[in-house]
Amino acid sequence: MKRLFTALVLSVLAASCAFAAPKGKTLVAVFSKTGEQYAVGTIAEGNTMIVAKMIAQATGADLFEIRPAKPYPEGYTVTTEIAKKELNANVRPALAEDKDVREYDTVFLGYPIWWGEPPMAVLTWLEAHDFKGKTVIPFATHEGSGMGRSERTLKQTLPGANFRTSLALRGATAQNDRPAAKKAVDKWLTGLGF
Ligand SMILES: Cc1cc2nc3c(=O)[nH]c(=O)nc-3n(C[C@H](O)[C@H](O)[C@H](O)COP(=O)(O)O)c2cc1C
Repeated sequence: MKRLFTALVLSVLAASCAFAAPKGKTLVAVFSKTGEQYAVGTIAEGNTMIVAKMIAQATGADLFEIRPAKPYPEGYTVTTEIAKKELNANVRPALAEDKDVREYDTVFLGYPIWWGEPPMAVLTWLEAHDFKGKTVIPFATHEGSGMGRSERTLKQTLPGANFRTSLALRGATAQNDRPAAKKAVDKWLTGLGF
């Protein structure tokens, strides 16, 4: 009886793991900005890019950078002003490069929070592709807003995608305390079944 119970527990566990385990190919798509940045000074690698690389390394995923054709300036304040205008005008900045998502089943989507939202260039990329039936896992760096309104915006933009639990991290943590960032990333990935 005890053995039967153990077998039952094990098979239920195996079934739930199989359900959680992601299938197929995985892409990490990320927008991230270098230069002068809030709370961290002038940076050579963007905060969100640091997190994106941790995810790609841990999952074996491909990495794609969502880059605007016209780069943003180095300065922080001037970038916030441009970003505010782009958000208010609901523009879709042209991209330097595109990436097809057809071969991917799961897309980790990373971006900094800009005025509570993803940068508009992220929407340019999302709207150019069909995410129906794909699993989308957002992650963001910020300096106080958490995910802001960004998840709502993503869900409106990709109504056919299956969203999973997101990760919000302080940009300064990603930039200046990599062990803490890695710990948070690994814990989140484990919870997602990776
Ligand atoms: C244009 C702009 C707008 C921002 N707006 C917000 C915001 O609304 N809330 C917040 O917490 N942080 C905001 N930040 C801070 C960034 O989200 C944060 O520094 C992030 O880690 C930058 O990531 P990156 O280096 O990958 O670009 C803003 C930064 C910029 C440049």
